[in-house]
Amino acid sequence: MKLWGGRFTKDTNTLVDNFNASITFDKRFWREDIEGSIAHITMLAKQGIISNEEKDIMKDALIQIAEDIETGKLEISDDSEDIHSFIEAVLTERTGEPGKKLHTGRSRNDQVALDMKLYVRKQITETDNLLKELLKTIHGIMKDNTETYMPGFTHLQKAQPVTLAHHMGAYFEMFKRDRLRLADTYKRMNTCPLGAGALAGTTYPLDRDYSATLLGFDAATDNSMDSVSDRDYIVELLNALSIIMMHLSRFSEEIILWNSNEYRFVEIDDAYSTGSSIMPQKKNPDIAELVRGKTGRVYGALISMLTTLKGLPLAYNKDMQEDKELTFDAIDTVKDCIKLFDGMLATIRFNRLRMEESAKSGFTNATDAADYLVNHGVAFRDAHAIVGRLVLFCIDKNISLDDMTLEEYKAISPVFEEDIFENISMKTCVDRRNTKGAPGRDAMQAVIKQNEKYLFD
Ligand code: ARG
Repeated sequence: MKLWGGRFTKDTNTLVDNFNASITFDKRFWREDIEGSIAHITMLAKQGIISNEEKDIMKDALIQIAEDIETGKLEISDDSEDIHSFIEAVLTERTGEPGKKLHTGRSRNDQVALDMKLYVRKQITETDNLLKELLKTIHGIMKDNTETYMPGFTHLQKAQPVTLAHHMGAYFEMFKRDRLRLADTYKRMNTCPLGAGALAGTTYPLDRDYSATLLGFDAATDNSMDSVSDRDYIVELLNALSIIMMHLSRFSEEIILWNSNEYRFVEIDDAYSTGSSIMPQKKNPDIAELVRGKTGRVYGALISMLTTLKGLPLAYNKDMQEDKELTFDAIDTVKDCIKLFDGMLATIRFNRLRMEESAKSGFTNATDAADYLVNHGVAFRDAHAIVGRLVLFCIDKNISLDDMTLEEYKAISPVFEEDIFENISMKTCVDRRNTKGAPGRDAMQAVIKQNEKYLFD
């Protein structure tokens, strides 16, 4: 039975029914639909629009329906057009007359707007919790690796020495901003559309602010047409999710590089790697690659949503039903990716010696050797040229600056003394960089302390 069958004299074409229906995907927010209905009837009773007795009958039945769906006793049938019709039909079947009053002063337009907001709110919280867990993993790696030296790169060329703690700290900042973006989306979307009706409010004396309070919103929305056609918060959510994926994808790319034979900075745990069906030696970073790859479908969701909304006249249009599948897919994908990535990162092994070796062999301390000369009275331009000659010498002999003898140093510039070695050690190079945000021990400890507070206070 269709909710809107009254005006029609002929059945709809089956293909039309299938094309039109949303039950196969909107059944996922049955909880939110019931939660919204309970708030709605509670408000209707308070306003005297339905009796308290009718409200109690419906409320008990709705709670029972939720329990039955939860336990599998009641199966959501795909024969209904959408989850709203399904719940209302079951309620009416179970309660008779009172159930027929559920939809008083409500349209599916404000109902679906409400359900989606309730669902998205929960998903924002869940995604945020996963991000927080990921940040804890990153924080643990940072604490353990303030003296794990590695090359910092620009143009993917070794540039200056940093530490693994510092490199990880960059990702900490990214995911911290992602949490802020989610919180911001939540804050802006947290107004209640219930009671906006189809588009123009209703003639019943609804108390919309009361419904909003019952459902944990900051307020009821201010314009009924906007209430049923606003999907900005979905665009904002998909934007926030896309940026999370962009960050995960960059991180994945580094893990893939670091796990390669050429780098060997890390080894991904067996539990998070896969093999090849033909090449026995292979251990592939599939999880990182999949996370990188799935970024595409999340970006796709954002562009699809923007495109669907473009040019839509006010107020509700059926186009808006397209918001669901792509949003659900993006949310599921991002949550899975954060979880999997977190697990992979938590079990990864860092090859510390190899990282430090790589920093040395890449002349990342060349700037510090030049600084040494400048501190001994040599002009920077001359120091630059002298260190250039040191580097050439090392390349020729296939050694690093740390491996040269003092005699070899002196042959290029007599200014060098025994203390050059300490001055260009990775530890010294890093520890001297103590400006706020730099990898030096003191600067890094300050950040770690701040992150500790952020995560655990
Ligand atoms: N399934 C619909 C959606 O997702 C529910 C709203 C239906 N409203 C309507 N006027 N047909 O948008």
